[in-house]
Amino acid sequence: MFESKSGIFLIAGLGFFALSFVVMAVLPWMIYYKEPEQTVAMMAQKGMVPEFADLAERYPEQFKKHFGEVNYKTYAEALQLGHDVYVAEACWHCHSQFVRPVSNEDLRWGPVSHALEYQNTLQRPVLFGTRRVGPDLIREAARRPNDWHVAHFYNPLSVQPTSVMPAYSWFLDEQGYPNKKGMAIITYIQSLGSWLREYPYFEGDGPLGPAAHPEQPYGGKPVPKQVVNAPTEGSRQS
Ligand code: HEC
Repeated sequence: MFESKSGIFLIAGLGFFALSFVVMAVLPWMIYYKEPEQTVAMMAQKGMVPEFADLAERYPEQFKKHFGEVNYKTYAEALQLGHDVYVAEACWHCHSQFVRPVSNEDLRWGPVSHALEYQNTLQRPVLFGTRRVGPDLIREAARRPNDWHVAHFYNPLSVQPTSVMPAYSWFLDEQGYPNKKGMAIITYIQSLGSWLREYPYFEGDGPLGPAAHPEQPYGGKPVPKQVVNAPTEGSRQS
C-alpha cells in the first residue's frame, strides 16, 4: 500500500483525523465529563464582583427599583439577564470570549482560557465567538470602571474616538442612568474572568490591583457593606 500515493493519503487523511479527534475531543471529554455544570446561582455564591455593589452605590434609586438590594440572589439575577442581553443584542457577533494559546494572545488579554471556565450555564449557548471586530471579553472583569461602561454604551466614540461599536443607548433611561438591562449587562461584563486568580489583567501589564491579594474574595478591597453572606476566603479562585 505504501508504494502508491493513495496509501500515504489514506494514512495522512484518516490517521491524522482519528488522532486529532482523540486528542481534541475524546481526551478532554475524559478529563472533564465528571465535572458538574455550574448554575448561575452556584457561580454567584462563589464570589460577587464589587462592581455590582458599586452600581447600587452610584445609582441607589434605580438599583433599588430594578434589583432591590445587593445580595447573591439579585447578583445571580443580574448575571443571567446580562447574559441574555449579550446574546440578544448579538455582542458575540463582534466579540469573542476565548483567549487562545497562540499569537501571544495572553499578553494582550490575560491567561489562556481553560476548559473548566466554560462548564457553566452562562456559556450556553457557547459564546466563544467567531470573529473579533472588537476585543476579546473573557478577561474584561475590572479592566474598566462602571461609569466607563455607561459612557461607552451610551456613545462608544466618547471614550474610544476610533470605535466602530454601535451605541446601545437603550441600556440607559431618559435621565442617562443605566436601566435594568444596562445594569445587568455591566454586571455580566464585569464578571467575565473575575473567577481567576490573575484578575484583573490589563494588556500585558500582568495582574494589577486586587490580584495582589488573591487570597481574599474581594481581591483586597473591603467587602461592600451591602453584601450579605460574603463567600469564604479564597472561594473566587478557579
Ligand atoms: C459592530 C461590532 C460590535 C458589536 C455588535 C459590539 N461591539 Fe463592543 N466593541 C467593538 C469594538 C470595535 C470595540 C473596541 C473599541 C471600543 O472600545 O469601543 C468594542 C469594545 C467593547 C468593550 C471594551 C473592551 C475594552 O476593555 O477595551 C466592551 C466592554 C464591549 N465592546 C462590550 C460590548 C457589548 C456588551 C456588546 C453588545 C451589547 C457589544 N460590545 C457589541 C465592536 C462591537
